Amino acid sequence: MSAPMTRDPAVAAACLVAGGLVALPTETVYGLGGNALDPRAVARIFEAKQRPFFDPLIVHLADRSWLQRVAQNVSPLALRLAEKFWPGPLTLVLPRTSAVPDLVTSGLDTVGVRVPDHPLTREVLRLADCPIAAPSANPFGRLSPTTAQHVAEQLGDRIDLILDGGACRVGVESTIVRVEGDSLILLRPGGLPIEDLAPFAVRIERPTTVEEQLPTAPGMLPQHYAPRTPVRLWKAGETWPEGRRVGQLLLSGTADPRAAACEVLSASGELVEAAAGFFEALHRLDACGLDMILATPFPERGLGVALNDRLTRAAAS
Ligand code: TXA
Ligand code: MG
Repeated sequence: MSAPMTRDPAVAAACLVAGGLVALPTETVYGLGGNALDPRAVARIFEAKQRPFFDPLIVHLADRSWLQRVAQNVSPLALRLAEKFWPGPLTLVLPRTSAVPDLVTSGLDTVGVRVPDHPLTREVLRLADCPIAAPSANPFGRLSPTTAQHVAEQLGDRIDLILDGGACRVGVESTIVRVEGDSLILLRPGGLPIEDLAPFAVRIERPTTVEEQLPTAPGMLPQHYAPRTPVRLWKAGETWPEGRRVGQLLLSGTADPRAAACEVLSASGELVEAAAGFFEALHRLDACGLDMILATPFPERGLGVALNDRLTRAAAS
């Protein structure tokens, strides 16, 4: 039996305060929310997602004045970024306070925080008056949900409630950065283009050491964000797998005549439009009974960076 759906933020807030698990709409993807300061609720999130405990959760705040509830020694650069980009698809990894259960951060001394840009979920946060831990509302390693229906199909029987806030506007998960002095370490490309961050930081680096990547790996496991159907990266002119039922995922243009199904993300080739429909298109292709999905890489700029990251990981599984 699938969890009930509501459009009422007060019902969702009451469920969260009582220790329940609620799927919440954000501008990026749907999150699976629980009271971040309640270790039992947080443990239930890991259980419902079948997520390994070494993968920490993002904590969602109603606005930036809540930062002090979960973070400390917030640097001037972090404050500037919060002021400029919140509410919005940017997660900041900051030193945490002892109020945050170890389970949320996988024992790290930092916590990932953001203010989501969705009116219903911000109202839930205000009404519940507690920070909400929420990973994407999909079983671990699978496609992220961008509609309430996706959540119902993938996790409906494991959670208490789904708050239906329509389709997600941005469509890919938040950009995650750790702030270090004047520099930013990019832990995951996402819904805020890296180009937008560049004016604020002296440097933006990719994590260098394995230790840096491992415990903090945000969906950094090579296989992640994967549909059940195998995904291959493919460019026009490359060999076509004959004798197989093939689906195509394209930014723009037209389907190959040999394709059994095709999703074109933006007729005009716009990356913002493509991101908004990306997971939705993969969910649809995944339901077509295909042998494989051939996905053509995106231009490596703006939201194309995050989309290529998700494609590469989907193709690795
Ligand atoms: O847009 C989003 O970020 C969505 C919505 C629901 O907010 N959430 C999301 O959560 O994508 P999730 O759990 O699928 O991915 C969050 C990633 C995790 O893979 C985790 O490794 C990373 O954020 N993360 C969380 N806390 C961290 C920390 N203290 N240090 C480094 N990485 C952290
Ligand atoms: Mg996820």
